[in-house]
Amino acid sequence: MKRIFSGLKPTGHLTLGNYLGALRRWVETDQHQADALFCVVDLHALTMEHDPGRVRRLSRQTATLMLAAGLDPEQCTLFVQSHVDAHTRLSYLLECTATDGELRRMIQYKEKGERARAAGESVRLSLLTYPVLMAADILAYGTDEVPVGDDQTQHVQLTRDLATRFNQRYGHTFTVPRATHPVVAARVMDLQDPTSKMGKSHDSGAGIVYLLDEPDVVRKKVARAVTDSGREVRYDREASPGVANLLDILAACSGGNPEELAGVYESYGALKRDTAEAVVELLRPMRGRHAELAADTGFVDEVLRKGAERAREIARPRVDAAYAAIGLLPAS
Ligand code: AMP
Ligand code: TRP
Repeated sequence: MKRIFSGLKPTGHLTLGNYLGALRRWVETDQHQADALFCVVDLHALTMEHDPGRVRRLSRQTATLMLAAGLDPEQCTLFVQSHVDAHTRLSYLLECTATDGELRRMIQYKEKGERARAAGESVRLSLLTYPVLMAADILAYGTDEVPVGDDQTQHVQLTRDLATRFNQRYGHTFTVPRATHPVVAARVMDLQDPTSKMGKSHDSGAGIVYLLDEPDVVRKKVARAVTDSGREVRYDREASPGVANLLDILAACSGGNPEELAGVYESYGALKRDTAEAVVELLRPMRGRHAELAADTGFVDEVLRKGAERAREIARPRVDAAYAAIGLLPAS
């Protein structure tokens, strides 16, 4: 059976981008057609300035929302990265496989490093090595497919390179995984700045739809979305990024096609109204289910405990094999 692995960082409240780009497919298809593992990748939340209490709260909230969105613990394995030592154990071996040049080329490292410097913060070494830990997350499980949004393509490519290099040097140890992306809305853009990704770690809340936003907040955010000075509704990501983003979101929510939907609308106002309602309807069940689950932390904790147990069992033999292959003396 195919193995699928993916993760979400507990660095902020989950956004519509996380849902349309990643989580929705995990719920609707991945967990039903494969042995799927989904992870709250909390160690990745420590690569930038962080508040310990907030990371702890967001880790539980992220897991709760993943369940509220429809991940079913009977169908998939849900766990927290730091509960399974195999990730950091393997990460070190992959640091001995990667080069500093290839990590310095990572777009996210360049962008986030610059942002940290501009804010007068130091750049943590873990921000540079983060894609290696991500590769370890994926390779420890013999993963075939990694369902992610577009922004993760480069990291999955690095994972493939590291797996291939390790296998060539030390003997076949890892499956070489491939990234899969949604057909529409693989990159949901910020409503206020449609040339940058809707990201949960960004400062501005006005352009970001959070999964737990109240319906009226969603309506307001969509109504205020930046479009452009033209009047015609057309699907052109270059010339009209704001309108194209709304069409992508509407298409992803309603199951349509963004180019065809463009032909249906004569004004931005109508497009915004329909997009807002489609998003509100999409999020409604999740909000209700989240409230129920949040009231029962015992349930969520038990799901995470069982998930970590299963994850440890799967990861351990492969990581042990990698330790042996690279030349480390097995402990007897
Ligand atoms: P992160 O928020 O960085 O933990 O991302 C978790 C998952 O959501 C990854 O698969 C990302 O590619 C995906 N994702 C995050 N933001 C967006 C976005 N704006 N559009 C599409 N996918 C996204
Ligand atoms: N780097 C991913 C992101 O920022 C999160 C992540 C960490 C991940 N480990 C992973 C995604 C393994 C897929 C598989 O979105």
